[in-house]
Amino acid sequence: MVNGLSDIDHVTVLLVGFMAAGKTALGRALAERTGWTLMDVDRDIEAAYGCSVAQLFEDFGEPWFRSEEDRRTLEALDLTGTIVVPGGGWAALPGRMERLPAHVRTVWLRVTAESAVLRASKEGDTRPLLGAGPTALDAARRLLAEREPYYRLADLHLDTEGRLPLELAGEILEFLRRREGSARLKRQ
Ligand code: S3P
Repeated sequence: MVNGLSDIDHVTVLLVGFMAAGKTALGRALAERTGWTLMDVDRDIEAAYGCSVAQLFEDFGEPWFRSEEDRRTLEALDLTGTIVVPGGGWAALPGRMERLPAHVRTVWLRVTAESAVLRASKEGDTRPLLGAGPTALDAARRLLAEREPYYRLADLHLDTEGRLPLELAGEILEFLRRREGSARLKRQ
């Protein structure tokens, strides 16, 4: 944990981005640097139901999953000093990125469809919306194109290619300090 976060501990960080962009790893690195609470929404749902997201999609369907994910994400976003990591589809739910609480700072982890498919395939067959095999890239390109306008609304855009989570966590902290510092100056 770094010392002296009192200038930014009134915010909450929301990490958005496509599947396999590295949101979970970055969330963990940022939590390590700050000591803030990490809310990894998919892991939270899996722990609550004792099975994988892929299994929950199969058993209850996507609309059920989306409402579960949405409820838990919105609850976590009400808190401060928190890092909230929903799955890649949450940001594209209607109105979500446009109507966030004032203390939420958003970060988009950019990844190409090609890298996302490659990384996802290394992690095993865990993303029901991508599927496996040659159609996965088509599905990723289509979904990414649909979602990019929502991700783009984030306050900070970070390229993830070849970058380590701890490096990206440092960049987020720098961004928060700059932003909260200039907001304070404007208020004076
Ligand atoms: C999804 C992303 C997944 C998971 C589910 C649906 C999506 O999370 O929530 O498979 O629609 O983009 P990650 O973004 O962590 O892969």
